[in-house]
Amino acid sequence: MADFHSLTVSHIEKLTPSSVAISFNIPKELAQTFAFTAGQYITIKKEIKGKELRRAYSISSHPKNAQITIGVKKVDRGGFSDYAHSKLAVGDILEVMPPDGRFTFSPSDSAKNVAAFAAGSGITPIMSIAKTVLECNSDNSFVLVYGNKSYEECMFYTDLVKLQLDHPDRFFVHFTNSETMEENALFGRIDTSTVNYALKNKHKGISFDAFYLCGPEAMIHMVTDTLMENGIDKDRIHFELFTATEIKEELPITDDGQAVVEVTVDDEVFSLKMNKKMAVLDAVLKENIDAPYSCQGGVCSSCIARVTEGKATMIKNQILTDGEIEEGLILTCQAVPVTSTLKVDYDDV
Ligand code: FES
Repeated sequence: MADFHSLTVSHIEKLTPSSVAISFNIPKELAQTFAFTAGQYITIKKEIKGKELRRAYSISSHPKNAQITIGVKKVDRGGFSDYAHSKLAVGDILEVMPPDGRFTFSPSDSAKNVAAFAAGSGITPIMSIAKTVLECNSDNSFVLVYGNKSYEECMFYTDLVKLQLDHPDRFFVHFTNSETMEENALFGRIDTSTVNYALKNKHKGISFDAFYLCGPEAMIHMVTDTLMENGIDKDRIHFELFTATEIKEELPITDDGQAVVEVTVDDEVFSLKMNKKMAVLDAVLKENIDAPYSCQGGVCSSCIARVTEGKATMIKNQILTDGEIEEGLILTCQAVPVTSTLKVDYDDV
């Protein structure tokens, strides 16, 4: 299930002092496998200092491009983003899992007005969505509010200005910088007043069909609340977290603290005994079972499985809907067994 493919790095472009865009050639025989919907991400697997790392990165390119481009912001020392900045070179081969993710925009025949709020590297999937919205229907419009510390930190700045020049009547971008007062930019972080400014002032004549939010959790909550206060239905608001707030809770624990778990992956069934304080995914990986995963932080959705017997509870969930949870879906990186036996199926999702 966790099917990785070798892709060659075809281009690396420095976007800001701490971010790069990395493009991959997609060979013809993998074109179908790597076809994607705007807003999705890929997962890269890389062994660094003897440890296998998996990291999910959103795609910034248009789905019709022959290459796939991702944005990588340096967030670690010794991790993949550090490696991508210091060592990765054109011609290198990386192991990449096909695109996945639910934060998507699919073209439709009817005209759509879309607004997006992004902060920092949260702009990456929004780039792909904006290009798709503008390209798929000449009546579509796109309003973007994009927050950074300064223009220097603004990823894809040149691309955004080009989109503005190419679509002056349909693409509107409002930069907002929190550390520097700069020309043609608002000052401050994205907050309630920025959302209201875009909605009720600058673009009050537009009735928006969909909203896409990508950035830190606090921003997503604040923008969602403000949109809902403005009468916007929750089902028109789509969001993707790129940094999850750490939630450390006392995990539920009962009886002897152990659970017997049966796991189905790629039609193979594995049995394991695990501590109920552990996340199901951690226990599965400890047994070297090849289950799908990426962020291990409840952000990307690649570790979804279905509970077919027993019960598990999630420490954190911002991805699955109440209906999906009722159906038995769990994020295995966030789920701990509640019952002493648990059956989990990665294939049935
Ligand atoms: S691995 Fe990303 S949500 Fe579980």
